[in-house]
Amino acid sequence: MNFTNRTILITGGNSGIGQALAEALQAHGNRIIITGRNPASLNAALERNPAMTGYTLDVTDPAALEAFAAQVLADHPALDAVILNAGIMETEDYAAAPVALGAMERTIATNLAAPIRLAAGLLPHLRARPEAALVTVSSGLAFVPKASTPTYSATKAAIHSWTQAVRHQLRGTSVSVHEIAPPLVATELTPGQSQVAAAMPLKDFTDEVVGILTGPDVPDEVLVNRVRFQRDAEAEGRYLAAFAAING
Ligand SMILES: NC(=O)c1ccc[n+]([C@@H]2O[C@H](COP(=O)([O-])OP(=O)(O)OC[C@H]3O[C@@H](n4cnc5c(N)ncnc54)[C@H](OP(=O)(O)O)[C@@H]3O)[C@@H](O)[C@H]2O)c1
Repeated sequence: MNFTNRTILITGGNSGIGQALAEALQAHGNRIIITGRNPASLNAALERNPAMTGYTLDVTDPAALEAFAAQVLADHPALDAVILNAGIMETEDYAAAPVALGAMERTIATNLAAPIRLAAGLLPHLRARPEAALVTVSSGLAFVPKASTPTYSATKAAIHSWTQAVRHQLRGTSVSVHEIAPPLVATELTPGQSQVAAAMPLKDFTDEVVGILTGPDVPDEVLVNRVRFQRDAEAEGRYLAAFAAING
């Protein structure tokens, strides 16, 4: 499915990558629906983009997610695609005593269970559309983990694996399944990250991704050049060097 003149739902569209994708895809003639957890930030995004529709949603609340899926389909029966972008990244210390597990619980609920639940809620509708797309957002850390964020890296590896399996199940249907795997991008996913010199500027990342999504053949994996360092590390025999470069 080509991402022009479609109706696209983006979770976490009130900030960072989700907001930048929402605005850039809107500029390509798409009708954009965004969700955010923080009502103030969602309203600010909608004020900047009055043509967008927005819903407040905590994706870790299964009942809210189920109700949202029903509501968004009732409100937007022409929904063509969902980009499962909402996510969190927290550090964890497994050398501490005791080991705190709150970040693990939050990260699995947000980055893994939530996109799977929302996909499950929307897939019967998407399968009934003539052309549709399901898009997950993993990370370069799915392919080479960051040691300070073990569960984050694991959820991204898991969503990569889940995406491959679901793509295979949906082959031959109207639903194409894609994975955006960002490298380090200048957002506030972690405090101060938008100021880190090594992070890819958000606009450069968005331009490259939207160029791929609006091109003639959208690949299974939507990869900007900068993430090849991680994505191809194992295949190219560079895994240990890449792990060392990321983790010092
Ligand atoms: N930036 C990077 O370097 C990078 C690299 C690889 C992958 N990614 C992935 O890209 C995606 C977007 O991250 P970002 O960099 O744009 O960070 P961000 O600016 O912090 O955006 C994260 C978004 O997720 C939403 N969110 C988090 N928890 C939520 C919850 N429980 N319910 C509903 N929404 C929730 C946030 O909404 P609120 O603001 O309302 O809380 C926000 O809109 C994430 O999946 C992240 O893992 C980012």
